[in-house]
Amino acid sequence: MRFQTERPTSWQACLACGNELAETDPHSRCPSCGGLLELQHRPPDLTREELLGRFTERRGRDPGTPISGVWRFREIVLPAARQIVSHPEGNTPLLHRDALDRWTGMHRLLLKHEGHNPTGSFKDRGMTVGVTQAVRVRATAVACASTGNTSASLAAYASQAGLPALVMVPAAGVALGKLAQSLAYGARTLLIRGDFDDCLRLVEEASAKLGVYLLNSINPFRLEGQKTIVLELLEQLSWTPPDWIVLPAGNLGNTAAFGKALREAYAWGLIPRMPRLAAVQAAGAAPFAQSFAEGFARRHRVKAETVATAIRIGDPASYERAVRAIRETDGVVLAVEDREILEAKAAVDGCGVGCEPASAASVAGVRQLVKRGVLAPEEHAVAVLTGHILKDPEILVRYHRETEPAPAGANRPIEIEADLREVEKALKQQRET
Ligand SMILES: Cc1ncc(COP(=O)(O)O)c(C=O)c1O
Ligand SMILES: [Zn+2]
Repeated sequence: MRFQTERPTSWQACLACGNELAETDPHSRCPSCGGLLELQHRPPDLTREELLGRFTERRGRDPGTPISGVWRFREIVLPAARQIVSHPEGNTPLLHRDALDRWTGMHRLLLKHEGHNPTGSFKDRGMTVGVTQAVRVRATAVACASTGNTSASLAAYASQAGLPALVMVPAAGVALGKLAQSLAYGARTLLIRGDFDDCLRLVEEASAKLGVYLLNSINPFRLEGQKTIVLELLEQLSWTPPDWIVLPAGNLGNTAAFGKALREAYAWGLIPRMPRLAAVQAAGAAPFAQSFAEGFARRHRVKAETVATAIRIGDPASYERAVRAIRETDGVVLAVEDREILEAKAAVDGCGVGCEPASAASVAGVRQLVKRGVLAPEEHAVAVLTGHILKDPEILVRYHRETEPAPAGANRPIEIEADLREVEKALKQQRET
């Protein structure tokens, strides 16, 4: 169908066939053609100044009551939502470290650290909207497939909303911190003997047949929340857009959300020009980078393998949405080797910031783009760190304690007797290195 008369505040539209659905329709894909859905909004009925005023004014309201960094932007996220399920989330910092300028070759690289969200990843921004929508459509249970962070976030928000949650993760390869969170927050956790792509196929089938509300990033409401990473960073830069926004890319939900945020912010006069997006994949899981290199002539699917388990995805679900995001922002897609990811992670960790492996792909990507001359050192770039350092403690211990020969950034622990002379010896060694 298509809305013929006055349009509602928000509605869903199929990207493939143009079919339109009501905002509260619970289908996870277009019921006519199976295409991906997108939420569309009537342009806000406020001037630029009024809109920006509301965003910032909410931040400072009610001392002692933290305001959500997602719902501050409610006019362009989900204006009709009333009963909101919020931790709260967002309001993450924009950081700068000289050491990372030296490492990447940039003059001033900024880091938007989404690991500061309540469950330690950017997924909370999408999940607060997704679970709010689940409550609006009276879902009786919610489900997702995940490389770990989505399941951790869904588990937390579903438990807050009092909804049963079913999560499917690959039996091998989910980082310890993420699995621990899903269990602790009380989601029914299924360890699937297969990879993420198998989990996603299975959960889509389960949601269609068993009537469980799907909260993967194919759900357009998740992307509305994730748009606020971009809105918030633009706000932190006083609505002067950077030249580049660099982000890790797996299932491509975030790439799609960033593109939509920029398209809307530009169309509604919040920013005077679009920054360019750089989506960074791991070389062993780079079907989108492969398509980009061929001018998006065709979609690729691969058997994914990388140390960055969060982006170990071979058949990204939001492919079409992400192609649009890269095209509209004159963006680029690139691949970085696992070795480069681990080096970038050691650099991010070593300056006291810290992030999980997939997040470091964005910093590795910045360095590669500078080396290739795509990114000029004096340009303004923001790299998004998507997850917290403690999400994947096993990889840290392996890197620092067990890898042979020791990588340049390895910080070996030293076991000693409980003897002051040995402490003194260790201190002396540290001063000499
Ligand atoms: C930490 C982290 N970074 C990046 C990504 C990739 O995001 P997307 O799947 O939206 O491309 C994920 C997805 O799980 C993630 O958990
Ligand atoms: Zn359709």
